[in-house]
Amino acid sequence: MNEVLLPYMQGFQSTGNLRSDIRWFFELNDDRETLDHTYKVAGVAQKVAERYEADPRKAVTAALLHDISNVIPVSKMMETADKLGIPILEEERKYDRIVHQKLSRAMAIELFLIEDEEILNAIECHTTLKANSTLLDKVLFISDKMAWELPGEHPYLQSIKDKVNNDQLIEGILVYLDHLWDNRANMKLVHPWLIAARDELSNDEFKGY
Ligand SMILES: [Fe+2]
Ligand SMILES: [Fe+2]
Repeated sequence: MNEVLLPYMQGFQSTGNLRSDIRWFFELNDDRETLDHTYKVAGVAQKVAERYEADPRKAVTAALLHDISNVIPVSKMMETADKLGIPILEEERKYDRIVHQKLSRAMAIELFLIEDEEILNAIECHTTLKANSTLLDKVLFISDKMAWELPGEHPYLQSIKDKVNNDQLIEGILVYLDHLWDNRANMKLVHPWLIAARDELSNDEFKGY
């Protein structure tokens, strides 16, 4: 294991069960909030995967691991990514937290010995999506947002759920991507992968998935 990750693994031993391991991992790192979110995403991802005939086991595995890098303080994320040799885009250097999706992928490999590229790729684009995304990428991406419990009114979140639960996966994803695009003036970064995903999915040929 890369030594830059050692502090997050103090006292951890795998039980052989990923759901229990993830609980232990977040509890050791005193991150109850991400643990709760992670279990919610796993529950949603299982249902969305079943609805769209993606592999529910892979969707749950990806969901359990998607935010493991949240245990790294945001102020250390960029430096940790550099030490792990993760390729970082120029734009990403403007907003440290955006690298958490790439960090989670690297940690899934290093700490939880995940080798399945489909699972790893879904983890890697769970915040931004990307062009040419797989069904599993889409399932994890939208399940993460559907599991959010944001304070206040967020009509776009209800609209996402309505569409995804009504066999309109792409339309549901576009509700979210368009919401971000409309609010781009207030965002620290509009990630190039997100722009590419939105351009691609907005194309008529993708509608009515
Ligand atoms: Fe995340
Ligand atoms: Fe998340």
